[in-house]
Amino acid sequence: MKKYNIPTAGYEIFENYEEAEAYVKTCDIPVVLKADGLALGKGVLICTTREEALAGVKEMMLDKKFGSAGNKIVVEEFLEGPEVSCLAFTDGKTILPMITSCDHKRAKDNDEGLNTGGMGTFSPAPFFGEKTAKEVMEKIMIPTVSAMNAEGRPFKGVLYFGLMKTKKGMKVIEYNSRFGDPETQVILPMLKTDLLEIFETITDERLNEIKIEWEDGACVCVVLASGGYPEAYEKGKEITIGDLDEDCILCHAGTAIKEGKLVTSGGRVLGVCARGKDIEDARQKAYKNAEKISFEGMYYRKDIGIKYKDIVRE
Ligand code: GLY
Repeated sequence: MKKYNIPTAGYEIFENYEEAEAYVKTCDIPVVLKADGLALGKGVLICTTREEALAGVKEMMLDKKFGSAGNKIVVEEFLEGPEVSCLAFTDGKTILPMITSCDHKRAKDNDEGLNTGGMGTFSPAPFFGEKTAKEVMEKIMIPTVSAMNAEGRPFKGVLYFGLMKTKKGMKVIEYNSRFGDPETQVILPMLKTDLLEIFETITDERLNEIKIEWEDGACVCVVLASGGYPEAYEKGKEITIGDLDEDCILCHAGTAIKEGKLVTSGGRVLGVCARGKDIEDARQKAYKNAEKISFEGMYYRKDIGIKYKDIVRE
């Protein structure tokens, strides 16, 4: 991203303690410190004061709190703002963005609790208007696909741009070369065009020949999770499903059939998805159907589809 001027969090890499300390003495605060090696997912510190940041650099680089993972650290700008998942189809030449969506990573309402694989989504992102779409295409999507061509690694398929709308514009938080989960559960129900036709035009490098159409309105997905997830949880709980609305889409994730019964077999068990005329309508439909499903220990967030609605659309 740095090489191709793609907007992301500013960062510096240090292998020398004195240099890292000198940098952190004057950098903007809050700041994020990341141990560059493997640290069992614990090697990231978000420091809200300079004292914390200086102590963090010492812990990582001198005291070896994360072992050799702290020999090299990344000092990264702290970004703030609403997040949006922008997926796109590309054949390496043409880029066709999908409808946007917003994930909910934390286990509990109000974005509290532990990080999960995603507890629910809604589509589209309410703050994502034409101006933002243009900015994302020109400053992020086109430069990314061009960069991969320039590096001799042309990409065809689905690109996932995890973005944040900051005061300084849209920034890349992460990339994936796949659909998102549970983003896909709200994107595909909104897709009017035949998905296989899109895939065929990608493999044939004819993506420029088609126009992808999306449904009006919105879609919401509520993930039903096993008690304890994302920490230890039990499997094999029998799932009962009441009379769901005909247009409710139930996506199975962590389920299995054991002795003829539907049982849980994962942390994120089911995604209850519904389309509506707007997010609130879709949200009510999804929750109405979620209430008809049960298994021992089942929990789900009650606030999917609420956030970001007060942010100006532009
Ligand atoms: N929901 C986030 C991801 O698929 O990476």
